[in-house]
Amino acid sequence: MAKQTKAAILGATAGLGQSLARQLAEQGTDLILLARDGTKLETVAVDVRARSGVSVDTQIADFDSIDTHNEIVSSLTDVDVVYCVYGTLPDQQLCEQDWQAAYAALHTNALSVISLMGRLANVFENRGHGTLVVVSSVAGDRGRKSNYVYGTAKGALSIFCEGLRNRLNGTGVHVVTVKPGFIDTPMTAHIEKKPAVLWVDANKVASDIIRAVAAGKNNVYTPWFWRYILLIITHIPEFIFKRLSL
Ligand SMILES: NC(=O)c1ccc[n+]([C@@H]2O[C@H](COP(=O)([O-])OP(=O)(O)OC[C@H]3O[C@@H](n4cnc5c(N)ncnc54)[C@H](OP(=O)(O)O)[C@@H]3O)[C@@H](O)[C@H]2O)c1
Repeated sequence: MAKQTKAAILGATAGLGQSLARQLAEQGTDLILLARDGTKLETVAVDVRARSGVSVDTQIADFDSIDTHNEIVSSLTDVDVVYCVYGTLPDQQLCEQDWQAAYAALHTNALSVISLMGRLANVFENRGHGTLVVVSSVAGDRGRKSNYVYGTAKGALSIFCEGLRNRLNGTGVHVVTVKPGFIDTPMTAHIEKKPAVLWVDANKVASDIIRAVAAGKNNVYTPWFWRYILLIITHIPEFIFKRLSL
């Protein structure tokens, strides 16, 4: 695999994106940080610059604006690895009552990512190298009543990444699908009960991702034990599963 020298992080102003930025910079990777809030973006960039000697550029981008995607992609043509980290956790009950809320969740978490990764894949394929790292979720492996709209978006992403990886095999372009479990970040700050055995901080997930990218992995469950939890969950027969409250 080509040495990683320049990376872009889409969704760099919180949780996992910020941890990835810090760790990649500490390893000597030049960065382009993208997010929609210019003030937060500059705060993260100042912090990352202070911790490392790497070059850190910023770019304001609202990934929900599909009209801007060609422009975003054009600004990333010299990047070796793109980490697509952004996402939102919708209110499941609101999504059940309000199609606009469900649509917004599907748009941000699936459609906009598919648009961006599809365009980047074509550019990377033409130049013959690059890695796309897409953060999906264990929630996409099986639909559960507590978060199945979010799970639908992440499931779509996981399938999209699998197909894209298959299409790009042999082109020099690699696609990594990341499936985290529970991470303690601003996204999950409202959740009160966080059993320590299942919850991790964003630094742990970021280091798992960076190691997996360096090793050329295809799919990454992080922390590792989620692979086995999901192996069990996905094998529960439907006639039992539909009665469970997960
Ligand atoms: N936390 C978990 O338990 C968990 C578990 C599994 C998977 N994941 C996934 O991991 C990824 C990172 O999650 P996180 O916990 O780090 O979330 P987070 O703390 O809420 O950070 C999300 C980032 O995405 C940005 N973002 C959201 N929508 C955007 C848009 N339309 N345009 C530009 N930027 C946008 C946010 O910017 P603003 O600050 O401007 O909102 C923020 O920088 C997400 O894809 C999430 O679905 C999280």
